[in-house]
Amino acid sequence: EQNIYILAIESSCDDTAAAVLCNGRILSNIVATQEVHQQYGGVVPELASRAHQQNIVPVIHQAIKKANIDKKALSAIAFTRGPGLMGSLLVGTSFAKSLAMGLDIPLIEINHMQAHILAHFIEEDGYEKPQFPFLALTISGGHTQIVKVSDYFEMEVIGTTTDDAVGEAFDKSAKIMGLPYPGGPLIDKYAKEGNPKAFKFPKPKVSGLDFSFSGFKTAVLYFIQKQTKENPDFVEENLKDICASIQSTIIAILMDKLKLAVKETGIKQIAIGGGVSANSGIRNALKEAESKYGWTTFIPKFEYTTDNAAMIAIAGHYKFLKKDFSDFSITAQARYKF
Ligand code: KG4
Ligand code: ZN
Repeated sequence: EQNIYILAIESSCDDTAAAVLCNGRILSNIVATQEVHQQYGGVVPELASRAHQQNIVPVIHQAIKKANIDKKALSAIAFTRGPGLMGSLLVGTSFAKSLAMGLDIPLIEINHMQAHILAHFIEEDGYEKPQFPFLALTISGGHTQIVKVSDYFEMEVIGTTTDDAVGEAFDKSAKIMGLPYPGGPLIDKYAKEGNPKAFKFPKPKVSGLDFSFSGFKTAVLYFIQKQTKENPDFVEENLKDICASIQSTIIAILMDKLKLAVKETGIKQIAIGGGVSANSGIRNALKEAESKYGWTTFIPKFEYTTDNAAMIAIAGHYKFLKKDFSDFSITAQARYKF
């Protein structure tokens, strides 16, 4: 049996990442996070593509060096074709094509959203993988999806956001309170010491398994504006309680939809992914659901849940096994459904 070495490149948003996997096991997993966006309170697409241009060669060099392999040993190049920011995707796509062409090895296109889910299949001692079929909740600054996963590449989106992503609900709420970007982890931190019942925020009324967070964000904005008009120090004095109340509302929204998805599909295996799955409140709620509702939940290592190339590589590994290769004429796709 020959070893399968996959080099993967991820550049869909504001992280330039490369990873090398051998038979599904990580040899290297490098991420260059772009600090440049912080001062703007969000990702600036033009700056993101420029930073990718600067980062991509050093990041790939580092990934190959850390993996301690010869480039000639690589079996294939996997890359994120979409969805994402076009200017960002173009950098990774063009580089992946050139590298595969130069090394004369197969090129494998990967859907970023499928990769978030397949991150659960990275070979890792002590991590039990979900079994098909399972439900995946992918939550990040760019995505909010409930996906029914029947096989590695047989996935159906059964719920998605009609406006903002859940990470945006965290980040925009944080911004309203004057916290720096990205505010999600800060809300999580302060929420730990706050009272989740101190303030009440509305849950959106969206039918079925879909989500909406723009009304929630507006509710937070009006609430803070009203309170600070009466007391300019309101946020400062109540930060922990506000954060706890915001976080518990967002978690309740997610858990309500998950419960509905379980009811509708009869599937009780839940795997989460995306940056927001780092949230301690969501992790606790899922753990609680195991004993409360008999669910089995799968929460991968933090570095596999935020944007990374290891997840692209594992998806590439499974496509390699099927010999599902891409044509060199392939182009990036900002909106890329599966
Ligand atoms: O997956 P990710 O790194 O990038 C994409 O957006 O694709 O996710 C970033 C998002 C941001 O919105 C960030 O605020 C949120 O994940 N996030 C969190 C936490 N850690 C990261 N949100 C809530 N609690 C956290 N602990
Ligand atoms: Zn992502």
